[in-house]
Amino acid sequence: MFTQFLFFLINFLLVSSDGDVVGKITVGYQGWFAAIGDGSPINTWWHWAKIGQQPPSPTNVAVISWPDMREYNTSFQTNFSNLGNGQPASLYSSFTDQTISTQFKWMSQYSIDVAALQRFNPNGIEGPIRDAMAAKVRTNAEKYGVKFYIMYDVSDWTNFQTEIKADWTNKMQAYTNSPAYARQNGKPVVCIWGFGFNDPQRPFGPAECLDVLNWFKAQGLYVIGGVPTHWRTGDQDSQPNFTQVYDAFNMISPWMVGRIANVNDVDRFYTDVNTPDLAYLKARGIDYQPCILPGNLSHHDRYHGELMWRQFYNMARLGVQAIYISMFDEYNEGNQIAKTAENAKMVPTNYNFVTLDEDGVVCSSDYYLRLTTDGGKMFKGQTPITPIRPTLPTCPLNFAQSKVNNRSCLAFISTTTDWNTANQQCGQLAPGAALVSMDSAFQNSAIQ
Ligand SMILES: *[C@@H]1O[C@H](CO)[C@@H](O)[C@H](O)[C@H]1NC(C)=O
Ligand SMILES: *[C@@H]1O[C@H](CO)[C@@H](O)[C@H](O)[C@H]1NC(C)=O
Ligand SMILES: *[C@@H]1O[C@H](CO)[C@@H](O)[C@H](O)[C@H]1NC(C)=O
Ligand SMILES: *[C@@H]1O[C@H](CO)[C@@H](O)[C@H](O)[C@H]1NC(C)=O
Ligand SMILES: *[C@@H]1O[C@H](CO)[C@@H](O)[C@H](O)[C@H]1NC(C)=O
Repeated sequence: MFTQFLFFLINFLLVSSDGDVVGKITVGYQGWFAAIGDGSPINTWWHWAKIGQQPPSPTNVAVISWPDMREYNTSFQTNFSNLGNGQPASLYSSFTDQTISTQFKWMSQYSIDVAALQRFNPNGIEGPIRDAMAAKVRTNAEKYGVKFYIMYDVSDWTNFQTEIKADWTNKMQAYTNSPAYARQNGKPVVCIWGFGFNDPQRPFGPAECLDVLNWFKAQGLYVIGGVPTHWRTGDQDSQPNFTQVYDAFNMISPWMVGRIANVNDVDRFYTDVNTPDLAYLKARGIDYQPCILPGNLSHHDRYHGELMWRQFYNMARLGVQAIYISMFDEYNEGNQIAKTAENAKMVPTNYNFVTLDEDGVVCSSDYYLRLTTDGGKMFKGQTPITPIRPTLPTCPLNFAQSKVNNRSCLAFISTTTDWNTANQQCGQLAPGAALVSMDSAFQNSAIQ
């Protein structure tokens, strides 16, 4: 009995209580798209095109997904053919105020708590626009009631050991004065992504990484580590001798992009990686912020939300402290949750961008934002933990474009627990047919 109490007490003391990241949904925010003529200091097609001096085209493209452009009032003409609906193929710049404002408004609308602004080496040609984006993130986070923190990415940052400290002191630290700057355990939050990876982009040794990590902690910060998937076992994507570094973080957030492509993979990682990771971290009083991703759209990994929901389900039943979603606007890796082209009408006709209806299930452009809302509710205990994906592929937004009419759509919304009753009520189901899931509803040709 006493031992049990002691265990309870130890666990209670070790695990951080809710703050701006613990108990919350954080999204990685790139904000790294620009266009020639957007007024930005970089003035190139940054991250849209391989050769930034020339407009994106089928032979000069750096993204694998196309955004839903309908809510941006400013866009830049590419050299792709028109979209399937005849409209010009134009793209946004993250630097445009109305664009970043729209994106932070979505975060707020879809109950995303925190944006982690990615900050790569800011000392080269990208420095000025990265600085400008940090200021715009602050403005919009404050405006829309979203928290934010700086997430350094040390990839290819050769002199990071001294430069990252100078960047924090001279530039980023000032952002902690913002009421929107995320705090955990009373401390401003910073994340450093890239320590311990076993690859040439991040060849840094444990001593320099530990020096930087301890320096940030000494600044009074709560420090998150964006670490390799196999950090705990120190093999595969992780260097072997980083245990001391990993153990020094306040929170661990292992990378998952490129590791899972179907629900079986998700479950395998739940058993072999997430469960032992959490046990290891709990025993050491380190918080755990596993990564959830929608899946590489271009690679057909999403299964209209099944991949992402399974991760939410597994992390909710595991009882992790926090969630990191990779990413909000990562159109380059096809792992964006932000609004995305729904179908062939919304992408250039002369390139095969994969759209959200790729497996035959019509999904609204905001589908992965809505799924994030629902996953967040489950994670926070506001809805029961369930493996059944509750997020309707279409409606209530944009369903004028879906195959499903208003009546059946609204019936589904009001009775998400009982598809058959819903169908009987709206009279959409073919005689004798039975619905067992949302999928069968939307794949059922009886519903038009
Ligand atoms: C876009 O919207 C913003 C904010 O509402 C406004 O200030 C700006 O003038 C608009 N731009 C265009 C091109 O309509
Ligand atoms: C646009 O693409 C066409 C080929 O489709 C090419 O001839 C033209 O030079 C391109 N324009 C620009 C501005 O890159
Ligand atoms: C850590 O491990 C890597 C890979 O085995 C090795 O190259 C490096 O020298 C080791 N560093 C230290 C400080 O032991
Ligand atoms: C996503 O899929 C595309 C197309 O198969 C591939 O080229 C790309 O490397 C994938 N991205 C990631 C991050 O796995
Ligand atoms: C469907 O219903 C919504 C309101 O619930 C309405 O705004 C919309 O115009 C309707 N669309 C059609 C095609 O009837």
